[in-house]
Amino acid sequence: MTSASAPPAVVGVIGGGRMGTGIAQSFAAAGSSVVVVEHDEAAAAVALDRIADGLRRAAERGGPGGFATGEVPDRVTAVTSIAELPADADLVVEAVPEDAALKARLLTAAERAVGERCVLATNTSSLPVTELAAALKRPGRFLGMHFFNPVPVSALVELVLTPDTTGETLTAAAGWTHALGKQKVVVQDSPGFASSRLGLALGLEAVRMVEEGVAEPEAIDTAMRLGYRHPMGPLRLTDVVGLDVRLAIADHLHKTLGERFAPPALLREKVARGELGRKTGKGFYPWP
Ligand SMILES: NC(=O)c1ccc[n+]([C@@H]2O[C@H](COP(=O)([O-])OP(=O)(O)OC[C@H]3O[C@@H](n4cnc5c(N)ncnc54)[C@H](O)[C@@H]3O)[C@@H](O)[C@H]2O)c1
Repeated sequence: MTSASAPPAVVGVIGGGRMGTGIAQSFAAAGSSVVVVEHDEAAAAVALDRIADGLRRAAERGGPGGFATGEVPDRVTAVTSIAELPADADLVVEAVPEDAALKARLLTAAERAVGERCVLATNTSSLPVTELAAALKRPGRFLGMHFFNPVPVSALVELVLTPDTTGETLTAAAGWTHALGKQKVVVQDSPGFASSRLGLALGLEAVRMVEEGVAEPEAIDTAMRLGYRHPMGPLRLTDVVGLDVRLAIADHLHKTLGERFAPPALLREKVARGELGRKTGKGFYPWP
């Protein structure tokens, strides 16, 4: 295992979608060898293309670790089976779709493919990390590493601990986060972790204020931008994230944390009308 302040020498990433390719790109840029696992050859090729594209764009921005040619460096490869994860991996990050059974199955297969000292991490944004840990033989070596989209430019990783996560595992994950040039926050596993829970509380209250006619969306957003220095108001942010995505998280937190996360009727109505925000051209704002 590499020292905690250096990037992990060898990283596996399971799932080469939006988040997985961002995570792979970030570790590659920091100097790690990265193996991405996808479910078939076509998906593996798409993942490698996305990583090459991301590294080229990073080079254009003048960021560290960019590769101007658009070629994927030799140290980034893609495979189609978990069994092909490198046995000497220091870290394996799972970033497949939000399906607990799928994640548990892939994480237990990864645990069999790598050595005993490898740290396993999930990038889940809402599933209980503690329940995923229960499927593993070495839950002490497991935690949530919640990256943010777009990973290569986002500054934060939420490290989510279960009661089993060891101090050594946390120290390693914290050092690797630092090696990526990102800042960590450490949270105990609980619904919505820190980021989604607080962000959603603000977003839902802003929707209720529109519903009650307290103010127009623009006024509510401006109050938070200028009064509290938020880079973007909670309603515009809801449009950018997607009203459907926020409703799904609200439903989950309502179930697990109680009435204070009950989704406002206006949010449900807008989702039912297909007003999902930026991606459909209309949310709380028009997006021509
Ligand atoms: N998108 C975000 O903003 C965001 C932010 C933080 C966390 N997350 C979490 O990250 C995870 C991935 O999200 P995403 O947005 O990258 O999804 P995505 O759909 O873009 O990517 C998932 C990838 O997993 C691959 N996959 C599916 N089954 C597989 C298997 N059996 N083996 C290998 N690969 C397989 C898919 O082909 C796909 O490329 C989810 O848990 C999500 O909640 C997403």
